[in-house]
Amino acid sequence: MQRSLSSRLIISHVAVTVMVLAVALGISNITFRNYLVGSQVKNLAMQGQTLSRVMQGYFSGTLYRPDAVYLIHMVQGTLNDRVYVLDNTGEILMETGNSQLPPAPWSRSVLSRVLINGQEFQGVLQGGNQRPEATAGIPVIVNGQVAGGIFLEAPLSTSNKIATSLTGLLLVGELVAIVMAGFVAYGFSKRLISPLVALRQNVSRMGVDEQEQMHTDLEGPQEVRDLAQEFNRMSDRIHVQMMQLRKEAEVRDTLLAHVAHDLRTPLTSIRGFLEAIRDHMVEGPSLERAVDVAWEETLRLKRLVDRLLAATRIQSGIGSKNPVHVSTWIETTLERVAPLAEESHHALIWRQRDDAVILAVEDYLVEALINVIDNAAKWGSPGTPIIIDSVVSEDRRSISISVKDQGPGIPPNMLDHVFERFVTGDKARRGSSGLGLSIVYEVMEQNHGHVEARNDPQGGAVIIMTLPVLDSAA
Ligand SMILES: Nc1ncnc2c1ncn2[C@@H]1O[C@H](COP(=O)(O)OP(=O)(O)OP(=O)(O)O)[C@@H](O)[C@H]1O
Ligand SMILES: [Mg+2]
Repeated sequence: MQRSLSSRLIISHVAVTVMVLAVALGISNITFRNYLVGSQVKNLAMQGQTLSRVMQGYFSGTLYRPDAVYLIHMVQGTLNDRVYVLDNTGEILMETGNSQLPPAPWSRSVLSRVLINGQEFQGVLQGGNQRPEATAGIPVIVNGQVAGGIFLEAPLSTSNKIATSLTGLLLVGELVAIVMAGFVAYGFSKRLISPLVALRQNVSRMGVDEQEQMHTDLEGPQEVRDLAQEFNRMSDRIHVQMMQLRKEAEVRDTLLAHVAHDLRTPLTSIRGFLEAIRDHMVEGPSLERAVDVAWEETLRLKRLVDRLLAATRIQSGIGSKNPVHVSTWIETTLERVAPLAEESHHALIWRQRDDAVILAVEDYLVEALINVIDNAAKWGSPGTPIIIDSVVSEDRRSISISVKDQGPGIPPNMLDHVFERFVTGDKARRGSSGLGLSIVYEVMEQNHGHVEARNDPQGGAVIIMTLPVLDSAA
């Protein structure tokens, strides 16, 4: 049977209380009984001593027997005792008390100890009816000689009765204590369990409402507080991850929608031209023109797919970082974009040429710089130069690569968004997909650098990429 934690706590509390009280009851019972029997024996001995002094007169002949018997009765009073007066030969001279009681088995050793050695005796002996009795033997000394002895015996029933009634009283007290312990344990366990119950409720609500962030109050014993704290931490982590997953899912959905749209436009136009050609709708120079447009649309399609692949590849972060010389990076890029610059009639001028070593994936760096120069070539006025500067910072801890063109600049309302995906000012311009600068941003982030976009006061846009230097070698 599965028991709840609170019932286990209550049961264990009550069990411990019962055990402790049972032991206490046993000990107190024994202690009381011993105390009562001890004091009964002592009383008997004191009575015997009084009688012994009285009987000195009788043995010395100054007290007559009827007076002695009377006095013994007086001293013995109403107690349920038996008193024997023996002479030093062991013969019973007088006998009093309740005659219905059987005589105590006074052993020889006790008799000789009192009557011959003149020593007192007191203790518990087995009575004639096999019940323990309180006994005392007191010698009567006359002129330094043992003349006889007083022997007293009394049943222990009185002591036992008192001890039993006391035990009964204690038992009632203990039962009350056990019930109280049960109540206390109930209250205690409730207080202990309540934070756990709250925690369980929170756990069961987790994930039901994704927006709600589950937090449990830190209360109760230390262990429970630690558990609640760990739970809160875990809940925070899960919340952050869930938010991230949702954001990623949203980004993916938007990406898919954009990609589908961007792919459909050139595909529709290619299909249209091909249909026209197949159906012989176009001929002569129009046919040539149709083939050219379809060809250009194909190139646009390829460019878009290439961009998407590059963006996905870079975002996946695959590729090993190595020390890269900034000069090598710029040279490689310039070689790659030379045909493009020529086509768009721009001179590429690498003006300030500071060098440094940075830690990065070189391919991604080249891809990023190509995108920036590609924009400059796209928007820069034909015939104007594109200026590239690489400048190491004063503290030599970073290097900035800037690309400046002489075009219309970035529209001010776009400045804060140009690094977001699919943000494009003029889609028609040479197949703009709005991915170029988002790739640049991603590459800079991966290499612990950053990128910013500005407009030069004298006209044109400036894109500045800054990266931490591994080793400056300017
Ligand atoms: N040098 C620049 N001068 C003027 N506007 C710019 C310049 N560079 C970027 N922009 C603006 O920022 C937008 C985003 O640039 P980004 O490179 O991300 O995309 P894109 O060039 O439009 O497309 P893609 O690079 O994917 O072919 C551009 O569409 C353009 O409006
Ligand atoms: Mg671009």
